[in-house]
Amino acid sequence: MSSKVFVAGTGLLGGQIISALLDQDAPVRALVRPGTEPARMDALRARGVEVVEGDITGPLEHLAEAIGDATTVISAVQGGPDVIVDGQVNLVHAAEKAGVRRFIPSDFAVDVTKLDDADNFMLDWRRQAAAAYAGAGLEVISVLNGAFYEVMVGFMGLIDWEQSTLSHWGDPDQPFDLTSVPDTAAFAAAVALDPAATGTQRFAGQVLSMRQFHEAVQRGSGRTLELRHLGTADELRAEIQRQAGLTQNPFDYVALQYQWCMVTGKAKFDTLDNARYPHITPTSVTDFVRSTVPPA
Ligand SMILES: NC(=O)c1ccc[n+]([C@@H]2O[C@H](COP(=O)([O-])OP(=O)(O)OC[C@H]3O[C@@H](n4cnc5c(N)ncnc54)[C@H](OP(=O)(O)O)[C@@H]3O)[C@@H](O)[C@H]2O)c1
Repeated sequence: MSSKVFVAGTGLLGGQIISALLDQDAPVRALVRPGTEPARMDALRARGVEVVEGDITGPLEHLAEAIGDATTVISAVQGGPDVIVDGQVNLVHAAEKAGVRRFIPSDFAVDVTKLDDADNFMLDWRRQAAAAYAGAGLEVISVLNGAFYEVMVGFMGLIDWEQSTLSHWGDPDQPFDLTSVPDTAAFAAAVALDPAATGTQRFAGQVLSMRQFHEAVQRGSGRTLELRHLGTADELRAEIQRQAGLTQNPFDYVALQYQWCMVTGKAKFDTLDNARYPHITPTSVTDFVRSTVPPA
């Protein structure tokens, strides 16, 4: 496949996807939003990336022009339903107009196909988007990676380094899927450049239970953390409902919704596609923590 790749979203994951594509010598065009700092655009151009300005919620003709002769579009945007649903649907229609052959949406999550509405409102948007562009005249390939290591060690709020605790809900022996951001990007780039890839591709850097994750974090950090059990998966569901009744802002409890999807096993991958790309050797949680968490 002639393979200029258009990447929308140059943040945490999108930036790494661009790096992974460049590592494979793929020509890359990146969409940055109007008002992006010139230094950021210059940094992309210095690496050989064509930079175009635009917004995926903007006029379709402008977006199609920005996509130009790319044959694959990868979306690594983040945002609310205006971006994830309406924006991505708009992007798909622009991609169709530009003659793009395949689209990789900004899924990059646990197995969204196994969830029900209201299990996780951010993942609901991804399923709504998928339903909206299901009939589009291009191939849609979803890349799923479980949880980012970076999120498990940070945003998820499991680890309290000051108190030396790792707190979790649910069965400590329930396995879940997790992958680092650079490894997710490497898999996404591999899928984008693989003419035989189709459907939903599922990858994991590691499949661990909370007990194993705790051991890996301890090994990597050289610290001892008390493993604290906060309650059952049902009690976590009740806690999410309690918090939903207290706030107008669902982002206050979305980390708990992600945890619920994981600790119940509901969004666990049934199979992995890692073996399609044997050149990618994902880093382990232990090595990730060793290289990112400062020693005590
Ligand atoms: N599995 C996991 O644990 C996990 C964790 C985090 C994220 N993710 C997923 O990874 C994907 C990327 O997230 P991220 O963390 O990389 O997000 P991020 O760092 O916030 O980057 C999002 C990018 O999207 C761009 N963007 C937002 N709205 C846009 C629009 N209307 N038009 C064009 N570009 C727009 C932003 O532009 P600016 O640069 O101008 O702001 C930014 O470059 C998302 O699907 C997210 O859900 C997964």
